[in-house]
Amino acid sequence: PTTEQDLAKWAAGTAAVDAYVKDGMQLGLGSGTTSRWFVRALGDAVSRGLDVVGVPTSTSTGELAAEVGVPLTTLAEVDRLDIAFDGADEIDVQGTMIKGGGGSLLWERIVTDAAHRMVAMVDASKTVERLGAFPLPIEVVPFAWQSTGRSVARLLSRLGYPEADLRLRKRDGKTVVTDSGNYLIDAHLRVIEDPLALDGQLNWIPGVVENGLFSGVADEVIIGHQDGTHQIRD
Ligand code: A5P
Repeated sequence: PTTEQDLAKWAAGTAAVDAYVKDGMQLGLGSGTTSRWFVRALGDAVSRGLDVVGVPTSTSTGELAAEVGVPLTTLAEVDRLDIAFDGADEIDVQGTMIKGGGGSLLWERIVTDAAHRMVAMVDASKTVERLGAFPLPIEVVPFAWQSTGRSVARLLSRLGYPEADLRLRKRDGKTVVTDSGNYLIDAHLRVIEDPLALDGQLNWIPGVVENGLFSGVADEVIIGHQDGTHQIRD
């Protein structure tokens, strides 16, 4: 870890391996910088003899897992996962999260859905009273994404977010394309009053594939601090 926030992410990711992972488990491997610490720590444990398999939630997590020696499988081979581990951009006291800041929400959500339990690994800056300061990522198919975006804007206006600012995600001037070949629209909402309602309604819009609200999904939260310690909230 090179920064204090990175140390906090490291604390959450590495502690999660010690606290939850047992021999024989089938795991969901999350995406993002915190999850990368988790995957590296899991690789260390595997090299010391731990017997687990993982399903990655992004191409980049799959590549890292292969590099550090974590055996991989797919949801074609495995029925149910024991635990899905993943980071979050924001998490509230109910365990509802905004995810997808790194661009991987769709596979994350599928993998989490296939798991008996979900453990969120976050640095303390991610814990919030109310969600929404972090822009909500919405994954949309590229076909007519502008029209889908207008439908999203109309829905948001109806739900009481008339000022919602929607932006197509770009990096280095180029439209970001997800692992499933889709685009991302980031919705700047400031405060989300009813995450569950917003989640459901967004996903009804044709062209919306998935959104970054994971409502009440985290069973346990492992919070890393900048001094390298962690705490568990369940
Ligand atoms: C990946 O797209 C996200 O859902 C991550 O879980 C989230 O962005 C957290 O990322 P960091 O661990 O890098 O903060």
